[in-house]
Amino acid sequence: MQQLKRRLADAIISALDGAGAAHGQTTDSIIDMLEYPPDPELGELSFPCFKLSRALRKAPPAIAAELAEKLQCGDIAQPHQAGGYLNFKVSPEYFTRGVIPKIIAEGDGYGRTNEGEGKTIVLDYSSPNIAKPFHLGHLGTTVIGHSLRLLHEFRGFKCISVNHLGDWGTSLGKQIAAYKLWGSREQVESGGVDELVSLYVRFHEEAERDESLWERARREFALLEGGDPENTELWKWFIDLSIEEYKKTYAQLGIEFDYYLGESFYSDKMDEQVNLMREKGLLKIDDGASIVDLSEHNMPPCLILKRDGTTLYPTRDIAAAVYRYNTFNFDRCIYVTSAGQSLHFAQWFKVVELMGYPWADRLVHVPYGTMSVGGAKLGTRSGNTILLKELFKLSIDKVKEIMAEKNAELEDSDKIAEDVGVGAIVFGYLLNSRIKDISFDLQEALNFDGNTGPYAQYTYARTCSVLAKAAEAGYGAEAFTGEFAPNEAEFELAKTLSLFGEKVDDALASYEPSIVVRYILDICASFNRFYNSCRILGAENDDMVRFRLGLVRATNITLKNALHLVCMRTPTKI
Ligand code: ARG
Repeated sequence: MQQLKRRLADAIISALDGAGAAHGQTTDSIIDMLEYPPDPELGELSFPCFKLSRALRKAPPAIAAELAEKLQCGDIAQPHQAGGYLNFKVSPEYFTRGVIPKIIAEGDGYGRTNEGEGKTIVLDYSSPNIAKPFHLGHLGTTVIGHSLRLLHEFRGFKCISVNHLGDWGTSLGKQIAAYKLWGSREQVESGGVDELVSLYVRFHEEAERDESLWERARREFALLEGGDPENTELWKWFIDLSIEEYKKTYAQLGIEFDYYLGESFYSDKMDEQVNLMREKGLLKIDDGASIVDLSEHNMPPCLILKRDGTTLYPTRDIAAAVYRYNTFNFDRCIYVTSAGQSLHFAQWFKVVELMGYPWADRLVHVPYGTMSVGGAKLGTRSGNTILLKELFKLSIDKVKEIMAEKNAELEDSDKIAEDVGVGAIVFGYLLNSRIKDISFDLQEALNFDGNTGPYAQYTYARTCSVLAKAAEAGYGAEAFTGEFAPNEAEFELAKTLSLFGEKVDDALASYEPSIVVRYILDICASFNRFYNSCRILGAENDDMVRFRLGLVRATNITLKNALHLVCMRTPTKI
């Protein structure tokens, strides 16, 4: 639809005959004004003339009428006036001979552009804390973060993903203390992260009774900071085994990180920044701690050093940002975390600005709301936290049950169940605007007939099976470019498919993968309406068969490209 908008906007500019340009209008500003009319009866696009009224000193209906008269847009669209609007009825030809063959020709490249070429985006997401559970709260950062990476890559940006593991601080001291007191190598080797988490939980339980444990944890961390060989070895081991386990979850989601650079990586990079803050006169001593006062900016102070001189979460983030800028020269650095950390980011972004770094305005925080799970009981050894891997497993098991009933002879069914089970959660989650707090219902997310991941994947698989049958019947992959008058369902589907590029634009502009997810549901709805009302291989004549196969192929391509952008796999059979 973007190309069409551009052509119509060009035509509007020419029809305004210099009057538009005289009032600062350009093709791009006109494109931004074009709207989709709420009622298809009115046409496919609409230009509200209200904004020109003042400049042209004419009533909007008069402008619309005049434009309708003068406009030269060939036979791709027919303009007509309705009130203050200039509406366009777009010719079906535009979709049937233009959009559909174009989608087929572009294939995997449909929707891609190189607008980001030469620009680098660093994305900081997922970033769980070693020693603590990798839980439901991390689903948002993991899948929103990865989807934002894929969306940017789709637009030609160079993306670098960094997993900013929480691998430093007193919690690591607690972990080491707990291991030394109650753990064993064998247990940790066999139990992995779960074992580490239960040791950590035990530490907190025992420390309720025995206060001296807190001191013990501080000591262990001080030893680690001082480079004590035993503690360093334990700490490295904990990290390695945690990453190994996180990678299993990431693999289920198709995620790989370019870098695992935990908070510890910046231990020797903070002094320089703290000194710079001091030189700039930003640091204040408050009750022994060093802070940056942000009252002028209506925020509480940003804590830089504790009373004992140890660094804090913001200090590490500041050092990490400087390192990333120096190393990657980013055009933007995006942080995806729960909205609970919004203040933290606003504070240290401000400190970076006050430090005089000219790239401070390239830091972006993308927050998301909380998620709770209803309709599923999930217990873990760590109390009532829900582990991500357990939720995935539960979902995969449920899908296996459903699939066994539906299609018992499916080949490769374990892999497909994983794709569908994990996909159901990702899709169900990303369907919501990211900032909303949601209650997630697994039962609902798994409903093959609802607006769900399985339904979207199933629709995609349906396109694959039609195309496979078509190939068997001897139909090639080439697009139909003959003349054809589409019916309503066909027209609607073609129109929906043409919107992909704009949906990607919108999703990027607002850092909102949900826009793509909702669009996938629009495609599925249009496709299924078409599929249920039109015979494809059994259509009346060969032109009709080939035209409809073109629509199926274009749907297959668009769905695949869109699903991949939101971390969804696309099994060809379900
Ligand atoms: N480890 C943190 C957590 O689990 C998230 C880190 C986000 N990234 C950052 N650069 N602060 O809450």
